[in-house]
Amino acid sequence: MSSEQRIQLTVNGKTYERTVSVRMSLADFIRDHLHLTGTHLGCEHGVCGACTVLMNGRSARSCLTLAVQADGADIVTVEGLRAEDGTRHPVQEAFHENFGLQCGYCTPGMLITAVELLRDNPNPAEDEVREALSGNLCRCTGYQSIVDSVLAAARKRPDPGERKNPVR
Ligand code: FES
Ligand code: FES
Repeated sequence: MSSEQRIQLTVNGKTYERTVSVRMSLADFIRDHLHLTGTHLGCEHGVCGACTVLMNGRSARSCLTLAVQADGADIVTVEGLRAEDGTRHPVQEAFHENFGLQCGYCTPGMLITAVELLRDNPNPAEDEVREALSGNLCRCTGYQSIVDSVLAAARKRPDPGERKNPVR
């Protein structure tokens, strides 16, 4: 059996076709092949959430997903949250305004998880935010400013009809 496989997938609205090792993780593919380094690697075994991306609309640990498993998939990384004109996603804006980060290492995973939460539950209670983020570890903030950021994002998020792209 070949140790390499041809894959085609969409990342942040752009389609890519590449030959990859069947052992390569989706995280390494995103970072090393596509040079989208906003997706971070922390633990590399599914615990910290730093590598979280949206895969077909659901959050996924890209360190635990093989690139070949993403063949045909639609992926959104943190770079895909900005609008085409460079405008920050409301969740990014809320993190910026509410000091939702310090070193920023956990932030891409936090943002992706928060975007998924607010898409599915536009007006979450604080405990729902905490539960949604419970799979994402942060070593700096103590979490309160992150939770505050997500609650602020819920207040400022545009109505679905006004959004410019499906994850916004
Ligand atoms: S790097 Fe993937 S969960 Fe930690
Ligand atoms: S801001 Fe540093 S790990 Fe979260």
